[in-house]
Amino acid sequence: MRIAVYGASGYTGRLVVAELARRGLDVLLVGRDPERLRLAATEAGAPGAAVRVAGLDEPAALAEALRGSDGVISCVAPFTVHGEPVLRAAIAARCHYVDISGEQPHTKYVHDAFGVEAERAGITVLPAATDDGVPADLLAHLTAARVAPVDALVIAHRLSGGTMSRGTLNSMLANITAFTGGGLSFVDGQWLADADGVPTSLVFPGDAAPVEVAGLAAPELPGIPRHLPARLVTAVVEREFLARLSAVAAAEVVASLPEGPDAEQRADSGFVLVADAVGVDGRRARGVLTGVDVYGSTALIAVESIRRLVADGAKPGVLAPAEAFDPADFLGFLTRHGVRWSVTG
Ligand SMILES: NC(=O)c1ccc[n+]([C@@H]2O[C@H](COP(=O)([O-])OP(=O)(O)OC[C@H]3O[C@@H](n4cnc5c(N)ncnc54)[C@H](OP(=O)(O)O)[C@@H]3O)[C@@H](O)[C@H]2O)c1
Repeated sequence: MRIAVYGASGYTGRLVVAELARRGLDVLLVGRDPERLRLAATEAGAPGAAVRVAGLDEPAALAEALRGSDGVISCVAPFTVHGEPVLRAAIAARCHYVDISGEQPHTKYVHDAFGVEAERAGITVLPAATDDGVPADLLAHLTAARVAPVDALVIAHRLSGGTMSRGTLNSMLANITAFTGGGLSFVDGQWLADADGVPTSLVFPGDAAPVEVAGLAAPELPGIPRHLPARLVTAVVEREFLARLSAVAAAEVVASLPEGPDAEQRADSGFVLVADAVGVDGRRARGVLTGVDVYGSTALIAVESIRRLVADGAKPGVLAPAEAFDPADFLGFLTRHGVRWSVTG
């Protein structure tokens, strides 16, 4: 199985290359700078890996670079600026596609605009194959099943420790309106900003008291209504997270920061996902998932996602994770890598 990585020279791209090599998969590094790609291959522990050079403004060369690969993992940043050419090249080269976008405007665009083309090409496209994007969707699906038919589903995100990479911060800055505006919610079949019913406080697992939360432009949200019919689907994050984002909300500040967290900071970082579902009859269920090492988990999840799409197959088109994978089986895989999850109610 050959998997191409576009943006392989980046901070997360190198972790993805390392994970592919660790899994014994044939990896191809693709990007615009051959020297940076070769250096990345060596740093990622895959010094003999194949390298192909293709810029984002060269559609034919980009498709040619991906031809022959079974799948591609896109690790460019920001996705709203640079994401589309890689997806178009994957469709042209007929190879399955996942990306590691955390940008809701990008994931919504992919769901809205590329379903038919992906179906015609016979490939599966899955945006937001990240530490939170895939688990949040799968957890939402399993939690909602407990109380279906569902009236409302709220996904809450919490990040702890660690720091963010420059690529992540630049991607947030490129989408600052979406992030500070609270993102979109799915309400009565429509995507709305400033929707009614978004919680303003929430008790996270292990906390004695509620904390203030605000709407989050969560990247997994656009996929969820595909498999989970509900009156309201929305996402929130601790207000404190948005305050931290404001503190670095300037390109000069981001440029002065390290490329990304070092190994110690990565080990220190963790994420918590909560899925609160309320049935139309008022029954409630809560799913909770915790994980460590945001960037390492993203590499693991992106690689496992593309591996499953290639090895096990899924229907062609743009899919949400719960449509492409068996939710409990995928989460079971993650429990062997530090993830804990449960659903009660
Ligand atoms: N949970 C999450 O939501 C989550 C977790 C992890 C990562 N992410 C996302 O993953 C993305 C990557 O993050 P990162 O920290 O790895 O970023 P990064 O270190 O800045 O890497 C970006 C990559 O994109 C390439 N690139 C940028 N502009 C390009 C252009 N015009 N033409 C060709 N290649 C270009 C860079 O290539 P060069 O080396 O040639 O510059 C580099 O390989 C971000 O959007 C981040 O938000 C999300």
